[in-house]
Amino acid sequence: MKNIYELIAPCHFGLEAVLKREIQDLGYEISSVEDGRVAFWGDEEAVAIANVFLRSAERILLKVGAFRAETFDELFEGVKALEWEKFLPADARFWVTKATTVKSRLFSPSDIQSIVKKAIVERLKTVYRVSWFAEDGADYPIRIFLMKDEAVLGLDTTGESLHKRGYRRLTAKAPISETLAAALILLTPWKGDRILVDPFCGSGTFPIEAALMAANAAPGMNRSFLAQTWTNLIPEKKWSDAVEEARDLADFSVETDIQGYDIDGDVIRSARENARLAGVDHLIHFQRRPVSELSHAKKYGFVITNPPYGERIEEREHLPELYREIGQAFARLDSWSEYVITAYDQAEYYIGRKADKNRKIYNGMIRTYFYQFQGPRPPKRGTGSEH
Ligand SMILES: C[S@@+](CC[C@H](N)C(=O)[O-])C[C@H]1O[C@@H](n2cnc3c(N)ncnc32)[C@H](O)[C@@H]1O
Repeated sequence: MKNIYELIAPCHFGLEAVLKREIQDLGYEISSVEDGRVAFWGDEEAVAIANVFLRSAERILLKVGAFRAETFDELFEGVKALEWEKFLPADARFWVTKATTVKSRLFSPSDIQSIVKKAIVERLKTVYRVSWFAEDGADYPIRIFLMKDEAVLGLDTTGESLHKRGYRRLTAKAPISETLAAALILLTPWKGDRILVDPFCGSGTFPIEAALMAANAAPGMNRSFLAQTWTNLIPEKKWSDAVEEARDLADFSVETDIQGYDIDGDVIRSARENARLAGVDHLIHFQRRPVSELSHAKKYGFVITNPPYGERIEEREHLPELYREIGQAFARLDSWSEYVITAYDQAEYYIGRKADKNRKIYNGMIRTYFYQFQGPRPPKRGTGSEH
């Protein structure tokens, strides 16, 4: 009989709806959506599929259990009552890698971490009838969230975060995370057969994530995941099947119209190298070009970009001029749709246009806005009016 687990996928705050849709598109049923995480039902295969295919999830946790805990005693007893032996073999090396608490009575992460570990040890001592564990087997990192005194515990199946796709060895200043870039592209109506330009491409994250989507290439196809060592829970074949499926679905011979520009030539060279590592360098045209020279002969394209937002003090004084140049470039691309993520609070003012929509998104600790300037839809093909 198959084991059905509840899987929890943390994501960027504000982008839960994108991740929810991605999970549903893979065919899984959502169990809950909360700030910064989406939970769903799945078997062993789902653990592999979710890790390999999801673009906007940070990691995939296997839920062990949940209970109310207002005191350390309740936390200890609640953790001890969970069936850890179903997940952790006798030689497991396990520790609480992260404790997150929001609006809860228990709030000290280090105390929570040590109590959870002690409670699991107590549980396993009675089940495995030993008084000491060598912990020389596979790694099983544990995460706990306490939200309004409700504790949720899960095992991290991913290891190194999913934003590490493996292609970004060279980064520019202030790169956007790969998972955030993917989620933002998925938030727009852009599809692989449409034009996409990032005029501030830095290390190339937006163009590369877009090219991976156009090629239908799963983001986790070329990396490994921690739970591949959990042969007690997930047969090795589930992982090789997921990767094989990803390889079958990918088509790197697609035609695309994706461009990345940046004012800095070294940055452009890094972006090219990253695209090569991702296997999509032939799908992107990178070029050194300042935003003041941004123009395009074709209509109905998309700009999706992350301009400088004054990370460094000396940069701030240039922001009005830079955002004015962005506004002038957008005015030249009058049939285009433009999407800008920035923490610069004067962005709309200097671009000279109010966004049709904007969405608050946390990029780590930085509050940013995703401004959406929507252009007209292209005429339906065959009407003879398309340029
Ligand atoms: C916040 S970073 C973009 C990071 C990028 N999204 C990534 O993931 O690496 C802003 C980029 O804008 C570039 N830039 C600054 N002024 C520019 C201008 N006037 N025209 C074009 N690019 C510019 C910088 O060189 C930098 O790479």
